[in-house]
Amino acid sequence: MQTLKTTSLEVRDNQLWILDQQALPQQKNWLPAHSVTQLIDHIHALRVRGAPLIGLSASLLLALLAEQGQTRAELAQALEHLRAARPTAVNLMNNLDRMKVALAQPAFVTALTDEAWRLVQEDKQLCDAIAEAGCTRIKPGSQLLTHCNTGGLATAGVGTALGVIARAHQQGWIKNVWVDETRPLLQGGRLTAWELGELAIPCTLITDSMAASLMARGEVDAVWVGADRIAANGDVANKIGTYSLAVLAHYHQIPFYVAAPHTTLDRHCPDGAAIPIEQRAASEVTGVAGSFGSVQWAPETARVFNPAFDVTPAALISGWILDTGVVTPDQVQSGFFQPQ
Ligand code: MRU
Repeated sequence: MQTLKTTSLEVRDNQLWILDQQALPQQKNWLPAHSVTQLIDHIHALRVRGAPLIGLSASLLLALLAEQGQTRAELAQALEHLRAARPTAVNLMNNLDRMKVALAQPAFVTALTDEAWRLVQEDKQLCDAIAEAGCTRIKPGSQLLTHCNTGGLATAGVGTALGVIARAHQQGWIKNVWVDETRPLLQGGRLTAWELGELAIPCTLITDSMAASLMARGEVDAVWVGADRIAANGDVANKIGTYSLAVLAHYHQIPFYVAAPHTTLDRHCPDGAAIPIEQRAASEVTGVAGSFGSVQWAPETARVFNPAFDVTPAALISGWILDTGVVTPDQVQSGFFQPQ
C-alpha cells in the first residue's frame, strides 16, 4: 500500500501505525497496529478513538493483512473480530460492511486496498463538506461550546464539529471555544484543548459542570458536538455528557448542533433506545491514568456506573450537519433518516 499520513494514522513500510491518543498531549508516541489483536487493544484503550477513525483504522489494517498474504477465511474472521471492538460508533460497522463486499471480490487483495484507500480519501472529503455546511450556522463573534474530541485526531480530515469550528475560525468568526474537559477520559481537556491550540483557535477549558453557569451568563452562542451513531428518528449517541449539554442548551434556548458524516447514520436503528451503549471499566471513574501516571481517589470498593456514551433525543437537536448539508428538525420528523 502507498504511504499514508493523517493526524493520527500512518501507513508506512506496509504496516499501520497509530498516534497514541492516551499519551497526548504530553507525549507524541506512534505505536504499531500491525495485527488484529494489537489494533483491538488500542481501540479498547482509546489509543485509537473517534467514530470515523476507528472505522478507518480497522479497514486499513484489513487491507494490509490481505497484502501480507492472509487468506480470505482469515480476513473474514479478522473482520468480524474488528467489528466487535467497540459497539456504539456505527462507522466501524459501516466501513467494515464495505470491506466485506471487497473481500467477496475475486481479486480481493486489490479490492480491499482500493476500498480502504477510498474510505480514507472519502473521509477527508466528508469532513470538508461538513465544515462547509456547518459554517452556514455560525455567526461572527461566536462563543461555541464543544464536548469530547471531534477534530483531525478523530478522523482522516479536519474533523466534524471541530472541523466546522476550524473553518469558522478561518473566516474570523470565532471569539472563543469553551472546551468541556469530558470526564471520565478527558478527551476535551487532553485532545481538543491541544488541537485548538495547534490551530491557534482561541479556547478556554472548563470542567463539564461549568457549562450551565456559562449558558446562564449568556456566554455560549451554540453547542457543537459530534456523533457516534444517528438513529432513523434523529436521536444521537455521543460521548457521555452530550445529553446534559443538550438539555441545558434547550433550557437556555441555545442552538445545539450535531456534526457527522453520513457514515455515522444508522437508518436501520429505529431510535436511541436501540443503540448499544458501551459500558467501561470502573477504574476510569475511580481515578485517572495517562502518560502522567495514575491516581485513584475513590474507595476500591465503590460501585461505579460508567457508560461511554449517552443518547440525545432528536427533539433537543437544532440541526444535523452532514456532508450532504444541514438537516433540519422538520426534515427529520418527516422521515429524512428513515430507511430509503
Ligand atoms: O470514546 P471516544 O473518544 O471514541 O468518543 C468519541 C466521541 O464521542 C466523538 O464525539 C465521536 O466519535 C465523533 S468523532 C468525529
